[in-house]
This record gives sequence, C-alpha cells and structure tokens, in this order.
Amino acid sequence: MIGATPRRTGSVVGMELPPSLVSEQAIAQRVDELAAEIDRAYAGTDMLVLVGVLKGSFVFLADLARRLTVPHRIEFIAVSSYGDRASEHAEAVRLLMDVRHDIGGQDVLLVEDIVDTGHTLTYLLRMLEARRPASLGVCTLLHKPDRTEREVTIDHLGFSIPDVWVVGYGLDYAERYRTLPYIAELPPEYR
Ligand code: IMP
Ligand code: MG
Repeated sequence: MIGATPRRTGSVVGMELPPSLVSEQAIAQRVDELAAEIDRAYAGTDMLVLVGVLKGSFVFLADLARRLTVPHRIEFIAVSSYGDRASEHAEAVRLLMDVRHDIGGQDVLLVEDIVDTGHTLTYLLRMLEARRPASLGVCTLLHKPDRTEREVTIDHLGFSIPDVWVVGYGLDYAERYRTLPYIAELPPEYR
C-alpha cells in the first residue's frame, strides 16, 4: 500500500479518525474486570459454553475468553437483521448460522458486542432457552439504554453508551471499521 492515498472510507489504514469514545486502555481494563466477574459467577462449572454472536462479538470474545480461568469452550452463532436494520422490519431477526454442538444441560453465556433495541437478544434468548441449557446468561460489551424496545436482562455489562452509532473493536458500519482497536462514534460524514 506504499504510496496509496489514504481513503476516508473503505479502509481504516491512514484514516483521520474521530476521538475514541472508549479507549483501548479502558476496554482492556473493563474486559479484565468482566472476566473476573464471570470467573466468580461460574466458579465450579465443568464447562462454560461461550456463544459469540457473529460478526460483531469476535474481538471482544477473543479477549474475554483468553482472560477466563474457568473451563470454557467457544461456539458461534450468526444472525442478521432483515434489511440490516434499514427497513421498518428492523425488529425481525434471521438466523444465519447455528451453534455446532448441543447446549442442552450446559452453562451457556451469550456474548454480544452491543445491545441496542434488544430485539436480537430477545430472539436469541428465546431460541437458546428452548434447548434447555442448565443456565443461560448474557454478557455484552456495550448497551444503549436509550434505545431499548425490548426489556432484556444483562448479567455482565461492559459499558452503557449514548444513542450514537459506534464502530471498532468488532463493531462495523457497512462492514467497515471493525478492526479499530478502540470504540469510536462514527460521525455522519464518515458513512
Ligand atoms: P438490537 O437487536 O437492536 O439490539 O441490535 C443489536 C445489533 O445491532 C448488534 O448486535 C449490532 O450488530 C447492531 N448494532 C446496534 N447498534 C450498533 C452500533 O452503534 N454500531 C454497530 N452495530 C450496532
Ligand atoms: Mg451483533
């Protein structure tokens, strides 16, 4: 990429970025705390099943899981909102990929990047609950309380944030900005 003109959209490299809403350092510290909290909550479990919601949770899940001391395994599930939230059917959630192994009788912790309206989480909890896990918990890095349309219980929360579009640390805008190491508000002119 030597000599390439940095583009304001499409690539993170060389971009002039907005100041971070949550810094790398603040994320690292909070992920440490969350891992300790989860270790305490699941002390004594034979096997905690971490179910990461793709794609957004992959960075958070990787950092969180590597800090856990309780025995755990990783599963992924992928969902998308119809019309990618652009339509009036934004509450309709579609399952794109299911977990590989049965979760019946297991301690399951759903790991999300962000809870916005709560529709995705409501859908996932209903689906997973039907499979009769021994327990079903929720860990999310971010929550936008001002946007809640469906009440959901979050057992382990990283940060509450205002009603702004955020990117980085797994979160995207039209598949861009996912691998920024921090979380930033995306100003409208970057969309
Ligand atoms: P909900 O169903 O409205 O709670 O939406 C949750 C999903 O919307 C998240 O898992 C994200 O994929 C996406 N989302 C909501 N807000 C943001 C944001 O600010 N940045 C990036 N993705 C977001
Ligand atoms: Mg998500």
